[in-house]
Amino acid sequence: MTTTAVRPIPSNPDPIWMRAYRGIFWDRIKLLKRTGSRDPNIVSTTLGERELVLINRPEYIHEVLVEQADKFHKSKEFKFYVKPLLGNGLLLSEGEEHKRNRRLVAPAFIHRRIRDYAEVMTEYTSRIISEWKDGEVIDISREMMRITLAIAGKTLFGSEVGGEADEIKQKLTFLNRYADEQLRIPIHVPLSWPTPRNNRVRSAIATLDAIIYRMIAERRASTTDTGDLLSILLLARDEDDGGGMTDKQVRDEAMTIFLAGHETTSNGMSWMWYLLAQHPDIQSRLQAEVRALGSKRIALEDLPRLPYALQVFKEALRLYPPAYILTRTPTEDVFIDGYRIKKGAIVMISPYLLHRKEENFPEPEKFDPDRFSAENEKSIPRQAYLPFGAGPRVCIGNQFALIEAHLATAMVAQQFSMELADSEPVEMEPLITLRPKGGVRVRLKHL
Ligand code: HEM
Repeated sequence: MTTTAVRPIPSNPDPIWMRAYRGIFWDRIKLLKRTGSRDPNIVSTTLGERELVLINRPEYIHEVLVEQADKFHKSKEFKFYVKPLLGNGLLLSEGEEHKRNRRLVAPAFIHRRIRDYAEVMTEYTSRIISEWKDGEVIDISREMMRITLAIAGKTLFGSEVGGEADEIKQKLTFLNRYADEQLRIPIHVPLSWPTPRNNRVRSAIATLDAIIYRMIAERRASTTDTGDLLSILLLARDEDDGGGMTDKQVRDEAMTIFLAGHETTSNGMSWMWYLLAQHPDIQSRLQAEVRALGSKRIALEDLPRLPYALQVFKEALRLYPPAYILTRTPTEDVFIDGYRIKKGAIVMISPYLLHRKEENFPEPEKFDPDRFSAENEKSIPRQAYLPFGAGPRVCIGNQFALIEAHLATAMVAQQFSMELADSEPVEMEPLITLRPKGGVRVRLKHL
C-alpha cells in the first residue's frame, strides 16, 4: 500500500466514559457499530490514556494482519484474560517463539491427520443426533456444543483417558465461563488474591495441569503415535533446530487448541441453525442436496458432493462470526495509507462489522448462501471475509472447523428439519466469542 503524507485518523466524538463502560463491558457490538458509523474505514477514539483504532477496510486490515504483522502483538487486555489458562500457547505467544510453536503444532493439522479426525467427527455427531426425537424442542446451541466438545476431547486426548476426558472438559468449560465473566465486570480482582472464586479457578487449573502433565509423562514413556493431537504434539520436531516441545509447551498448546477449537465452531453452527430455521426455502435446498446421497452414513469422501452445506455454514460465519473482534497492539509506530497508528494503541478489527459492508456484500443483512458458490466466492475481495483471521496468525484449525461443521450440517439435514420454537429473536451475547444469548430453541421434525 502506497504511503502518503501523515494524516490524522478520523476520531469519534462520543462521550468516552459511557461508551467505554457500556461498550467494553456490556455491549460490544453496539460500541463497534457506533464507532464504525463515523467513518467506515478507520476511526480512532481514546480509552483513558490509550488510543483505540477501529480498522474496517480490507486493504488496511491486510496491512495489520499480513504485510506489517511483525510490528503487531496481541493486545495486553486479551492476554490478561486468557494467559493464566493458556500460558504461552499459539494464541498468545509472539515473534520467534510464535513462529516456532506454529511449526511444531502444524503437523497436527495436516490433511492426513484431519482425515482421521473426520471419523471421530462423524461418530460423535451421529451418537448425539441419535438421541433426538421427532417433535421434540431442543436448544440446538447446547447440542452443537455437546458435539464439538465431544469431538475436541476425543481428537485431542484420545480414547484411553476415558472418564478423565470428561473431567478435563468440565474444568475447561468452567474456566472458559470464568474468562467470559471477566469480560462482563468492570473491576477485576487479580487471580493471585485468595477469594473463594479465585481459589476455585486456581484449583481447576491445578487439576487440569496434574491430569495433562501425567498424560504427557505416560506418552513420553511409550513414544507411540496414538493418532490423537496430544501424541502428535509430543512427537513434533522442529525442522530448523531439531528440538521438540517441553512439557509446559505441550500443556499450553493442548489447552489452547481445546479452548480455541470447540466453542467457536459450536457457536457458528448454532447461528447457522438459527438462520436456517427462519429460512425454510434454504433449509429445503440443503436437504435436497443431502437426500441425493441416499440414506448412507455421510463420510469425508461425500463432502465434495455437498457444496451447498458448506456454503450455508460459511454464510452463517459471515453474519455471525464467532471471533467477532480481533485486537492487536503495535510495538512501534505503524503507517497505513498515511495514517499513523501509535505504538501501544489498541487496534480493533471486527469481522462482524466488516462482513456487513454493503460494498463487499450487497444486501448485507440477507442470509444468502449463494454468495459462497464456487463462482461467487472468487469475487469476494481479499480480507473482506475474515472469520478465521489472516496472515501468520490465521486460525490453524480452520480446515478442522470447516470439515467438522460441513459433516455435522449434512448429517443433521439428512435426518431432521427444524423451526424456531419461540417467536422472539435471539440476541447476540458478545463475550470471548459471539454467542446466541440464552440458546436457540428449535422444534425438530424427523424426515
Ligand atoms: C468456526 C470455528 C473457528 C473460528 C471462527 C476460528 C477463528 C479464529 C480466528 C479469527 C483466529 C485468529 C485470531 C487473531 O488473529 O487474533 C483463530 C486462531 C486460532 N484458532 Fe481458530 N477458529 C475456529 C476453529 C478452530 C479450531 C477447530 C481450532 C483447533 C482445533 C482452532 C485453533 C486456533 C488456534 C490454535 C489459533 C491461534 C493461531 C495462531 O495465533 O497462530 N480454531 N481462530
